[in-house]
Amino acid sequence: MKHLIDPTDLTLQEIDDILCLAEKIMANRPAYAEAAKGKKLATLFFEPSTRTRLSFEAAMLELGGSVIGFSSANSSSAAKGESVADTARTIEKYADIIAMRHPKEGAPLVASMNVNIPVINAGDGGHLHPTQTLTDLLTIKETTGRLSDLTIGFCGDLKFGRTVHSLIKQLSRYQNMRFILISPQELKVPDYIKEEVLDKNDAPYQEVERMEDVIGELDILYMTRVQRERFFNEADYIRLKDSYILDLEKLKLAKEDLKILHPLPRVNEISVEVDKDPRALYFAQAEYGKFVRMALMMKLLGLSVDEKDSAKAGI
Ligand code: NCD
Repeated sequence: MKHLIDPTDLTLQEIDDILCLAEKIMANRPAYAEAAKGKKLATLFFEPSTRTRLSFEAAMLELGGSVIGFSSANSSSAAKGESVADTARTIEKYADIIAMRHPKEGAPLVASMNVNIPVINAGDGGHLHPTQTLTDLLTIKETTGRLSDLTIGFCGDLKFGRTVHSLIKQLSRYQNMRFILISPQELKVPDYIKEEVLDKNDAPYQEVERMEDVIGELDILYMTRVQRERFFNEADYIRLKDSYILDLEKLKLAKEDLKILHPLPRVNEISVEVDKDPRALYFAQAEYGKFVRMALMMKLLGLSVDEKDSAKAGI
C-alpha cells in the first residue's frame, strides 16, 4: 500500500510521473472527468484549511468521484476522545482514500499504519505538508521550465512552517539547488533540517536576516506567514508577525524573472500591491494544487486513462 506521508516516500521518478500526469490533465481535462468514477475521498481535517481541503475535494469531484469528510476536530468524534487510529479504521470502511490534516506531528502516519487504503498527509503540525510540496514543484516546473539549477529564498517563519520543511526536503534531492534562508533569529529552520536534509544532500545554504541583502540573487522567493497557532505565547507572535513585508519597493531589487510563491493564506507578509506584478504566482500556485492532487490520487488509487479511448468515447 502506497501512502504519502513524507515527500521522500516517493522516488524522484514517481514525483516526475505525478507532475507529468498533472500536466496531461491540465491539457485535456474532459478526458479525466470519469477517471475516479465510483471512488470516494475522505477529507479528515482536524485543523483549519481552505485551499488544501477544497482543492482535494474539487480534485476528486473533477475526476468523477465523490467526497465525504469533516472540516474540524469539533465536528468529529475526536471531540469525544476517539483516537486517530480508531477514526482511520472506521473511515476505511466508508472511503477509498484518505486525506488527513492534524495538529499533531505524525498523526497521518499513525492513520496509515492502521488501514489498507492510501493515506495522504495534508499537513501534520509543524512537520510536513507533502501535497503542498507537489503543488510548489508543479508551479516551479511550469514557470521556470526546470527543477534544477535554482537559487531559492525561503522567507518568514522557517521554524514552524511545515510547507518550508517539506519543500526543502524535496528540493535538496535535485541537482544544483542553492538555498537562502531568510528569517529572524527566533524563527530559523530547525537544526534537523540543516543536519539531516541540507548537509546530508550536500545542498549549499546560507542563513540571513535581511531580505533586501539577498533578494537580487533569487530565482524563487518562497514567502510564508508567521504560524500564530504554533506559538507558545501571543506576545512573541505579535513581536515577530511583521518581520517581513514584501512590497513593490523591495521588488525593485529583484530579478525581472523572479517567481514569488506563497502557500497561502497570506496575512501581512506580501503587500496586496504586489499581486498585480507578473512575478506574483501565488494564486496560480493554488490552482496548480488542484491538478497535482488529481494526479496524485489517480496514482495512489492505481487509476489511469487512455486519452485516445476517451476521445473515441467522446468523453
Ligand atoms: C499552509 C499550511 O497549512 O501549512 N497552507 C496551505 O496548506 N496552503 C501554510 C500556512 O498555513 O501558513
